[in-house]
Amino acid sequence: MAMTKDFLSREFSKNFQHSPRFFRAPGRINLIGEHSDYNGGFVLPAGIDKYCSIAIAPSSNQISTVIASDLNDKVAFQDIPTHPSPGHWINYVWGVMHAFSARGLTIQPFNAVIQSEVPVGAGLSSSAALEVVFAKAFNELFHFNLSNIELTHIAKEAENNYVGLQCGIMDMFASVHARKDMAIKLDCRNLDIEFVPLQLKTNKILLIDTCIKHELASSEYNQRRHECESVVEKLNQQGIEATSLRDLSNEDLDLHRSLLSENEYLRASYVIEENTRLHQFVAAISTSDWTAAGSLLNASHEGLKNKYNVSCEELDQLVEWCKSCKGLWGGRMMGGGFGGCTINLVEEDEIPATISFVSEQYQSRFGVNPKYYIATTGDGACEF
Ligand code: GLA
Repeated sequence: MAMTKDFLSREFSKNFQHSPRFFRAPGRINLIGEHSDYNGGFVLPAGIDKYCSIAIAPSSNQISTVIASDLNDKVAFQDIPTHPSPGHWINYVWGVMHAFSARGLTIQPFNAVIQSEVPVGAGLSSSAALEVVFAKAFNELFHFNLSNIELTHIAKEAENNYVGLQCGIMDMFASVHARKDMAIKLDCRNLDIEFVPLQLKTNKILLIDTCIKHELASSEYNQRRHECESVVEKLNQQGIEATSLRDLSNEDLDLHRSLLSENEYLRASYVIEENTRLHQFVAAISTSDWTAAGSLLNASHEGLKNKYNVSCEELDQLVEWCKSCKGLWGGRMMGGGFGGCTINLVEEDEIPATISFVSEQYQSRFGVNPKYYIATTGDGACEF
């Protein structure tokens, strides 16, 4: 952290006069409970010790300037546009500003330098970390006194209303509320949380990054969300009271299967099963039953691949190859899908052998090397 602060401090004073304050927000992993958040279900994320950090201070004129040090890029602006600039990182900052102003809270001109250690496109929520760090910083800098939950909503609104991805609340919630050595069991229906100690003993969480992100990720994401909502609507019309898939059982689905398209049936069936798996997974890790935990990860992947259809060849291959690795209890694709990482539970001693086997296979099949991260947990957004 000291290094990050020194770096940000230097970059800030090269460009601006005032002395800044420093804030950071982490990326996240999700152990299990994928595509559950926007279905009112449970998720099990944890913050990682890779942060998006900023130095920030009020500006002395009407212009705000934000420097993305990793990208060697800089944006200066006075008014924020109503519509985002396609694909640009500044949208995340502007989206957060819009969400504050929708609450009648004005962000005064400011200057900031960003430095992020959260890999982009790996499914570790680098964008949520960026939104959250600005939400946190604006709240402190301009004395808005909003709660952490309110800041979580602001970051989510930035993504939903400005950037345009209809994501759920998991990523921002984790980035705000994370605690070291804990996973967050979050009930997305009412935002009740329980911190679950992540005591993995001789095991580690190994992330394997496919290093790809297929184009259809965000359109397919919004489509899945729509399919899930459609199931709830159709069952509501049959007099079943449900506000989300969380309120439905497999029996409800089977009883009304003829009303649903094949895809709708499969999507909903995956979501209902994934919720059950999450509770079983929490029980398995709290009793150190790694075999059970690993099988649940594998089962989650099967569902994401065959029923929810958000996997891709690279992710499927990684999961398959890992099944034959000694000491690897199980793994699955993580996050929205169509690329990014797999998350694996593996004996620490077996990590080097796993990496060498998987790299050889991946290289010969796809012509590139995947990237590996051993995920260690970290605390949520704060000033540092
Ligand atoms: C993305 C979204 C989250 C969540 C996951 C899938 O990360 O941002 O809200 O829906 O996909 O679990």
